[in-house]
Amino acid sequence: MDIRVAKRITALPAYAFQVLDEKVASLRRAGVEPIDFGVGDPSTPTPPVVRRACQEAIDARAQAGYPSYIGALEFREQVAEWTKRRFAVEIDPQTQVSSTLGSKEGIFNFAEAFVDPGDLVLIPSPGYPPYSRGTWFAEGKTYFYPLDERNGFLPDLSAIPSDVARAAKIMWVNYPNSPTGVCPGLDFFEQLVGWTRKNHIILASDEAYSEIYFGDEPPPSALNVGDEGVVVFNSLSKRSAMTCYRAGWAAGDPRIIAAFRKLKTNIDSGTPTFIQDAAAAALNDETHVAQMREEYRERRDILVDALARVGLRRSTPEGTLYIWQAVPEGMTALDFAEKLMDPAIGIVATPGDLIAEECADGHNPAAGYVRFALTPSVEQVTLAAQRLSQLQF
Ligand SMILES: Cc1ncc(COP(=O)(O)O)c(C=O)c1O
Repeated sequence: MDIRVAKRITALPAYAFQVLDEKVASLRRAGVEPIDFGVGDPSTPTPPVVRRACQEAIDARAQAGYPSYIGALEFREQVAEWTKRRFAVEIDPQTQVSSTLGSKEGIFNFAEAFVDPGDLVLIPSPGYPPYSRGTWFAEGKTYFYPLDERNGFLPDLSAIPSDVARAAKIMWVNYPNSPTGVCPGLDFFEQLVGWTRKNHIILASDEAYSEIYFGDEPPPSALNVGDEGVVVFNSLSKRSAMTCYRAGWAAGDPRIIAAFRKLKTNIDSGTPTFIQDAAAAALNDETHVAQMREEYRERRDILVDALARVGLRRSTPEGTLYIWQAVPEGMTALDFAEKLMDPAIGIVATPGDLIAEECADGHNPAAGYVRFALTPSVEQVTLAAQRLSQLQF
């Protein structure tokens, strides 16, 4: 028989990292163990306080049963309490919070609740792929807006045509921004939310990196401007090195959360309750988060200095796990990434254009950059800095 795959699957772009994966494999064959700054998956173990809470919860919930579709009330209360402590924002756990299976699931599925075929969604480029993939699966249309350095890697709202603004249903933003590392202040969100409300666009704020910041002031949330027309997605993945647990949530305007919950009851059966317990324990502990930030800061400083010493433009992220490094003049991002993969250097970084899309004006704002994910240990980052010193640009 024929197996006929849906167009939405066949139309998806090929796996962008294939070229890199092949290079890494050939380095390994040549006996070089690469230092991998390619993937944004924390390499530190999940903190003991979280692992213990999970182990205890498995026994305490021996009679398991299906979890709640929207998250147990205790978990939603913890999210609300954390949101209050962290952002001084009150949200109602009864109506304004829904658990997600990590934030990726919520981000990908979100469009299904709000996008009818042909509806427009505004998406940053570079940006996290599920914003666009979720839109396409819901048969919506994507409008990629650029995050350009000359605009501080922020959306240029004045460059979005008024017919596009009128037609758009959702606008995705992600600050602290992956991959540029930018952390704008409250005035940014005030301006942005003013614009999205005026245009009746839902502001979907991906705040997955809200706790990975290096300045003295923790970055704000879109919810600091109020919840009307706003939904935030957050997760324990980066804050508490819990990528494996799949624990996240959506919070915001009760009308948005109600539709999202209705959608979710039709998709999955909720986050496992012992995972929610582990997530609640994580939210109640800030010590490990502060330690994590210090560790990322140490790795960031070593690598940023090393890259500047070899003649590259200094690029110091204010937050997230990434360094968004401009490549030397005259080189493409792929040329530069390949140079780093020379067996004498053995460093893996991601060419920017692999994680970005061409924008409406035809340019790819990530073409001249590579991304370093600060996931290798301090020892490995130090070794990478030594190897880099053989280069000069
Ligand atoms: C910008 C951004 N948002 C969201 C996520 C989703 O993370 P998770 O599904 O683990 O919560 C990631 C993961 O890498 C990310 O980089």
